[in-house]
Amino acid sequence: MSEAKKSVFIKTYGCQMNVYDSDRMADVLAREGFGRAETAEQADLILLNTCHIREKAAEKVYSEIGRLRRVKDQAAEEGRSVAIAVAGCVAQAEGEEIIARAPAVDAVIGPQSYHRLPHVLARAGREGHAVETEFPAEDKFDHMPAPGSARPSGQPSAFLTVQEGCDKFCTFCVVPYTRGAEASRPVSRILDEARHLVARGAREVMLLGQNVNAFHGAGPDGRDWSLAGLLFALAEIDGLERLRYTTSHPRDMRDDLIAAHRDLAQLMPYLHLPVQSGSDAILKAMNRRHGRDDYLRLVDRLRKVRPDLALSGDFIVGFPGETDADFEATMDLVETVGYAQAYSFKYSPRPGTPAADSDCQVDETLKSERLSRLQALLNSQQSAFNTAMRGRTIDVLLEKPGREPGQLTGRSPWLQAVQVDAPASAIGSIANVHIERIGANSLFGSLSGQGRGCAPGAAA
Ligand code: 5AD
Ligand code: SF4
Repeated sequence: MSEAKKSVFIKTYGCQMNVYDSDRMADVLAREGFGRAETAEQADLILLNTCHIREKAAEKVYSEIGRLRRVKDQAAEEGRSVAIAVAGCVAQAEGEEIIARAPAVDAVIGPQSYHRLPHVLARAGREGHAVETEFPAEDKFDHMPAPGSARPSGQPSAFLTVQEGCDKFCTFCVVPYTRGAEASRPVSRILDEARHLVARGAREVMLLGQNVNAFHGAGPDGRDWSLAGLLFALAEIDGLERLRYTTSHPRDMRDDLIAAHRDLAQLMPYLHLPVQSGSDAILKAMNRRHGRDDYLRLVDRLRKVRPDLALSGDFIVGFPGETDADFEATMDLVETVGYAQAYSFKYSPRPGTPAADSDCQVDETLKSERLSRLQALLNSQQSAFNTAMRGRTIDVLLEKPGREPGQLTGRSPWLQAVQVDAPASAIGSIANVHIERIGANSLFGSLSGQGRGCAPGAAA
């Protein structure tokens, strides 16, 4: 008889860095004998990897804990014990508070302590509860197993965190508090991890960091390398065909990074470059450290070197003190730039951030009106961008089974989701796809002759 295996159900909120972290926590737990459960009801450990960026994100976590308490109680009635752990930015920001508000939670663990997850869980087992939200001196990545050890095979497109934290202190943002000071991983570790990912089938790597283009990791030559230097080194890895990075700050788009967009064929023509507002007065109040014209000039420079570059952005409406004229300046900037994709939010006051204390909060109804106008404009730009793909033949990295049988889902160079009529054997290849139809959330197409690459292991 085989020994009953423990299992963990992980629910991830928020950004791609949390997705990466959840996988790394799964790797740490796999070493402790945990498999992945499909649902909370089946699991011995329920792990919520949380986001604190806006109030709604944090509230969602508490309502989920309420639901999970019943799952835990039900399991107890059946004689099974289930632990609930809260990780991520809510864990970091609220620490002990979480257990005070939600006693069903056994363990709280901040993003810098994930390598210590087994210890924290063991302590919770012994003491009833455990909270760990310090910023330890050691690098957690040095104490975690190789990425993906919890999965039988890798994915064609993989995340790789190269930088964490932020020193920018935008006045609306909790990241500098929840993720701590800006820190870059050493170049050699990143290259090793990328090689490992490629050996497991990755064709594309998305470099992640809260402020990724501020990257300055220690290089093998003893100097700090810039993100551009890292990208050039990654491009040398055989089989690594596509590179991306996110999220960038306009202030850190250095000349060598702009040049990389011209010189590196592997660097995909898509850049997430948040501006937040088009008004100089608001940018100043946000402590963004650049003006509207600086951003527009930067976009021009990027487009000059890479004319097919698609831009995406983040926007906040209703920042304290935002007047009608400030908001119109944002609409005007969006008209000028033209975005392929964007995220836009109503300003949400976050405890401990300077803007939350402002006396000039904008009325919620006005925020909603502004958000719907901005989103209508951004949506129309996105659909114009997508519609222009109809009839074109583009490279698509085929990543996984699609919605319908006989279909695969992949990504265009511009990060659009593409549904392609193709056999499962094509997963992992970069194929030429003829785009036939444009849907609300995806492009639809079919294979068109030989692609640029072929699936690893397939006959050439
Ligand atoms: N309110 C609204 N949106 C916010 N963001 C960050 N903090 C806040 C806040 N307090 C948005 C920014 C950022 C994105 C990740 O979330 O646009 O770029
Ligand atoms: Fe937050 Fe980004 Fe500003 Fe850093 S640069 S404080 S992560 S919005």
